[in-house]
Amino acid sequence: MEQNHSAEGLSIGIIMDGNGRWAKQRGLPRTAGHKKGADVFDDITRYANEQGVRAITYYAFSTENWSRPADELEVIMDLFGQSLKRLYKYRKENNRVVFLGERTALLPAHQKMMDEIESETQSRTGMILNIAINYGGQQEITKAARELAQLAAEGKLNPADINEDMLEGHLYTKGQPMPDFILRTSGEMRISNFLLWQCAYSELLFTDLYWPDFRRKHFDEAVQEFHSRNRRFGGIGE
Ligand code: FPP
Repeated sequence: MEQNHSAEGLSIGIIMDGNGRWAKQRGLPRTAGHKKGADVFDDITRYANEQGVRAITYYAFSTENWSRPADELEVIMDLFGQSLKRLYKYRKENNRVVFLGERTALLPAHQKMMDEIESETQSRTGMILNIAINYGGQQEITKAARELAQLAAEGKLNPADINEDMLEGHLYTKGQPMPDFILRTSGEMRISNFLLWQCAYSELLFTDLYWPDFRRKHFDEAVQEFHSRNRRFGGIGE
């Protein structure tokens, strides 16, 4: 049987790591790494879309990232705002944009744009672009548990009926395919609270490249690496 080695139809998670080290290596401020990282984010998103990827999820900012210096936080949020403006104008593509995370901690102007972008793109049928911002996997699962508990308290749900599908229906990614693979750049081999529920059967891929050095050809290499893995989903395989 012919093997399908394309990215078509895949769901992919990306932990963009190493912006700071990329900048340090060049004697630049850490924020220069984030600026370059935002350009790479745009390019890889376009490429994934061209390749027919079903869903791509980026870890842009974690619930732990608030502990960074104020000037760095300002630059990251400013880059996020610029990215929102580009997404706002991104009407030509058929992408659906979804933001994962607790958005009330973000700037009101950003929250407004996020709400508008999500509602404007919600019925689009092309690639789903998920951006995790002020996101934590534990926080996401806790939110789902809280919502189910609330329904139970209101008598709308019998706790004995709670199953995996129901919990999944309260995640930010409800209704979406689980990631086929999650790729982390910069040589770190951790999941760092990213898509904790969704990664149950995802292949984990790591590259030593810093995110600002990540190019389309590296994306292709990751897809090839994914296809070379033997996925068994708990069974015994072929
Ligand atoms: C990880 O590198 C990167 C971040 C925490 C921020 C990522 C932000 C962007 C790419 C730009 C803004 C977002 C969008 C969606 C355009 P690091 O700073 O942890 O690097 P280090 O581990 O080398 O210090």
